[in-house]
Amino acid sequence: MPHSPTSDGRPPWRATVLTLFPEMFPGPLAVSLAGQALDAAIWTLRTVSIREFGLGKHRVVDDAPAGGGAGMVMRADVLAAAIDHARIEEPDAPLIFLSPRGERFDHSLAVELAAGPGLLLLAGRYEGIDERVIEGRAMREVSIGDYVLSGGELAAMVLIDTCVRLLPGVVGAPASLDQESFEAGLLEYPQYSKPREWEGRTIPEVLLSGDHKKIFEWRRAEAQRLTARRRPDLLGSPKSREKS
Ligand SMILES: C[S@@+](CC[C@H](N)C(=O)[O-])C[C@H]1O[C@@H](n2cnc3c(N)ncnc32)[C@H](O)[C@@H]1O
Repeated sequence: MPHSPTSDGRPPWRATVLTLFPEMFPGPLAVSLAGQALDAAIWTLRTVSIREFGLGKHRVVDDAPAGGGAGMVMRADVLAAAIDHARIEEPDAPLIFLSPRGERFDHSLAVELAAGPGLLLLAGRYEGIDERVIEGRAMREVSIGDYVLSGGELAAMVLIDTCVRLLPGVVGAPASLDQESFEAGLLEYPQYSKPREWEGRTIPEVLLSGDHKKIFEWRRAEAQRLTARRRPDLLGSPKSREKS
């Protein structure tokens, strides 16, 4: 299927989610920045219902784990049929299985994935999926953290939302992305707005001074102080060294 270009001529970034619960989408991706960008065709969203590839009258997609044990496992043949179908329209997108044992999703992976054509995401359910389809379709496994969700759909939304806000034209002022947590290998400095005084708490004087050089220096020092206290592991990263 041809993909109509965005208003600046770029093809839209395309997210395809293979799921047993297509009704969960677009869900939160339809509102705010991601939703506006979806309406503006900066990105597109397609769901592929794994159930349609299920076997027999009851469209069975899972079976008992080989070797016994609790729960059910999504079948390799069913998943492969769904993936191969989705691949027809998405020959180039990286195929990712959302999985608690995958590599940890972070800002640098989001930058890498947002720079590509889009994502083909497989959301697991039950106890997970047959290992052979992970190998047979050369899937990359990605985790959103060290905890177990009921299914991969929320994790898919996390990847999509994070990538979409990095696409050109999604965040109004691109400079605000430069200042965000992780972009410079640092956590973001504290933010303040109105009112000038709230419950006896004031805004740091320097932010009201109008002196842009001093404000820049204060923010950088605060970002470094917060990062050192909360996430010292980030300070050794090449990005944080560049900025210090
Ligand atoms: C109940 S979980 C299966 C957990 C699996 N039995 C295990 O112990 O690793 C069902 C599905 O949710 C998704 N999922 C759960 N936690 C996740 C996480 N932290 N990151 C990404 N996907 C996750 C995966 O697609 C997984 O196949």
